[in-house]
Amino acid sequence: MKQLFPGVYRHNGRLFTVNLTPGKRVYNERLMTVDGVEYRSWNPYRSKMAAALLKGLKKFPVKEHSRILYLGVSSGTTASHFSDIATRGFIYGVDVAFRPMKRFVALCGERHNMTPIMADAGRPEKYRPMVDAVDLIYQDISQKSQVAIFLKNMEVFEAPEGIIMIKARSIDVALPPKKVFDTVKKEIGKHYTIEDERRLDPQAKDHICLAVKR
Ligand SMILES: C[S@@+](CC[C@H](N)C(=O)[O-])C[C@H]1O[C@@H](n2cnc3c(N)ncnc32)[C@H](O)[C@@H]1O
Repeated sequence: MKQLFPGVYRHNGRLFTVNLTPGKRVYNERLMTVDGVEYRSWNPYRSKMAAALLKGLKKFPVKEHSRILYLGVSSGTTASHFSDIATRGFIYGVDVAFRPMKRFVALCGERHNMTPIMADAGRPEKYRPMVDAVDLIYQDISQKSQVAIFLKNMEVFEAPEGIIMIKARSIDVALPPKKVFDTVKKEIGKHYTIEDERRLDPQAKDHICLAVKR
């Protein structure tokens, strides 16, 4: 096991995190024990964050003490790996859909460092009172208004760092993805410094990951 970032490991071209709840799988991922430590395989086809890391993302702001507002948490596939890493931090997982949220609520029951918030991420004023200061906003929402949602939350929570996974086709199906990404980068670049960017093909087609700083 080679450490890629604190809490993130690489072995034979695959990524792993240390399982916070040994013996338990979240999405049927592979478990592997090395020197008495149980690791969970982090699947880049199921998690855009893993895809971005495998693509060489240099900025990875999820750390042991990170406090993260996660927009579009769904059933918690990626959030579970953040929870493995941020063992002394906290993750607020926001999603608007009932079905995946139900699974995320159950997952939060097993992990001490996550809580669910069922809400529309486009209306951060609704959940602002439930969220303490955060170090990072992570967003993975495939909606036309995804950039506006991200900027609004970054502003409301005054987050120092942000990661957004952008799906070009949700913004404009007719335009080539590169054109969409250029427009998005220009818009986000007006407010924040884009520190790193990675196209996520082939694991996530027509997606880009942007890591930004205030
Ligand atoms: C691609 S999935 C997220 C997958 C997840 N991030 C992962 O890696 O495990 C996108 C999620 O965004 C949620 N979503 C879409 N619009 C939303 C909104 N306005 N507010 C909150 N969640 C939203 C959907 O319900 C869906 O669960």
